[in-house]
Amino acid sequence: MRTQVAIIGSGPAGLLLGQLLHLAGVDTVILERRSRDYVEGRIRAGVLEQGTVELLVEAGVGDRLKAEGLIHTGFDICIDGSRHRIDLEALTGGKTVTVYGQTEVTKDLIAARLASGAPLVFEAENVALHDIDTERPRVTYEKDGATHTVDCAVLAGCDGFHGVSRGSMPDSVLKTYERAYPFGWLGILADVPPVSHELIYATHPDGFALASMRSETRSRYYIQCPLDTDLADWPDDRLWDALKTRFGDAAAAAMRTGPSIEKSVAPLRSFVAEPMRHGRLFLAGDAAHIVPPTGAKGLNLAAADVRVLSWALIDLFRDNSTAGIDGYSAACLARIWKVQRFSWWFSTQLHNFDTEPAFERRVHRAELEYLLESESAQKTLAENYVGLPFVDPRRVA
Ligand code: APR
Ligand code: PHB
Repeated sequence: MRTQVAIIGSGPAGLLLGQLLHLAGVDTVILERRSRDYVEGRIRAGVLEQGTVELLVEAGVGDRLKAEGLIHTGFDICIDGSRHRIDLEALTGGKTVTVYGQTEVTKDLIAARLASGAPLVFEAENVALHDIDTERPRVTYEKDGATHTVDCAVLAGCDGFHGVSRGSMPDSVLKTYERAYPFGWLGILADVPPVSHELIYATHPDGFALASMRSETRSRYYIQCPLDTDLADWPDDRLWDALKTRFGDAAAAAMRTGPSIEKSVAPLRSFVAEPMRHGRLFLAGDAAHIVPPTGAKGLNLAAADVRVLSWALIDLFRDNSTAGIDGYSAACLARIWKVQRFSWWFSTQLHNFDTEPAFERRVHRAELEYLLESESAQKTLAENYVGLPFVDPRRVA
C-alpha cells in the first residue's frame, strides 16, 4: 500500500488529522491497534474549548456536537463546601466551553472516516515505523496473519502516551519532561442527572472532587484518591458518600445517586516530549504530551496540534512548501508549555499533597482565597480554561 500520510492511532488526534487531510485531498491511512468497539468504548473527558469546537465543525463532524453539546458559561469552585462561580463568559468577553464527551467526538470522527471510504485499519498489530529520517519512510503491521507495508511520505504519530511513535525517535534526539502526581482520580459514570447545571471543582480536607456530566441525564464524577486505590474498596455507596462530603451540604442534598455504569482509577501526569518531529515523523496529541485532567486540556491540546500539523501537511503536499513542517514542533510546543503550566497550577491549587510542608499548604489556600477575591486572578483562570488563542505559525513574521 502507498499513501501520502500514514497516521498511527485512531484516537481524537489521528482521526481528526485524517479527516482534515482527507477533506484537503491528501491521501492518508490510519492504523489502529485496538478494535473499533474498544476505541469507541473508552470513557474520557468531556470539555471542549471553542477553538476545538470550531475545528470539529470545520472537519465536518460538528452536527451532533452542535445538537447535543452543552454550552457552559461558567463553573463553580467549591472550597470546603462553599461554592463560588467563575463566570467564564463575563471574564473572557463572551467565550464559553462545550461539554460533549470525547467518546462522542471519537464516534463522530470514526463515522466520518468510514463514510469517506479512506482506509482505517483496526486491530493492526505490531505496528513498526521504519526509515523515519529518510525521504521514503514506511510502516509495517500485522493483521489476519499477514505482514503489511505502507510506503508513505510522512508519518503522523497519533498513538498516545503508550504508543510506538515517540519511542521510534532516537534517544539522542528526544528530550522528555515529566511530573508524576502522588495521587490519582477515581471516576464514576452514572445515569443520574448532574448535581448542578455547571461543573463544580471542589477542594476539601478529604481531597479534590469534580462534578461533571455527559448530558442532562448522565453524570461524571471524580474524587482524588491514593495511587494504589483498589476499586473493590470503593462500592458505589462509599463513593457517593465521599462526593457528598467533598461538595458540601447544599450539593449533598441535591445530589442524585445511582448505580455506576463505569468506575476507574487513573494516575495524573504532566509530560512533554521535545521535539515533536524527527525526519518525516510528526508527533501529535498524547504521543507528545500529557496533562493532568484538572484543566480539561488533553483533547483540546491534541486538537491544537492537529490544527497546526494539518496546515503544514496541506502546504507540503499542495504547494511543496516545507515552512509549516519545519515550524511545526516549535509552534506547538510554545502553546503546549503554557497549557502545561495552567494544568499544573490548577491541579496544585485544588488537590491535597500529603507530603506538602505546612507553609506551602497555607500558601495554596491563600492563593485560592486571592483567586476568589480578585477579578484579575479570575480573568487569568478563565482565559486559560476557555482556551488560549491560536497562533497561526504561517503568519508569524
Ligand atoms: N499501534 C497502533 N495504534 C496504537 C498503538 C500502536 N502501537 N498504540 C496506541 N495506539 C492507539 C490507541 O489504541 C488509541 O486509539 O492510538 C490511539 C491514541 O489515542 P489517545 O490515547 O486517545 O490519544 P490522542 O488521540 O492523542 O488523544 C488525546 O485522548 O487519552 C485521551 O486524555 C487524552 O484527551 C486526551 C486525548
Ligand atoms: C469530564 O467531564 O470528564 C471532565 C471535565 C472537566 C475536567 C476533567 C474531566 O477538568
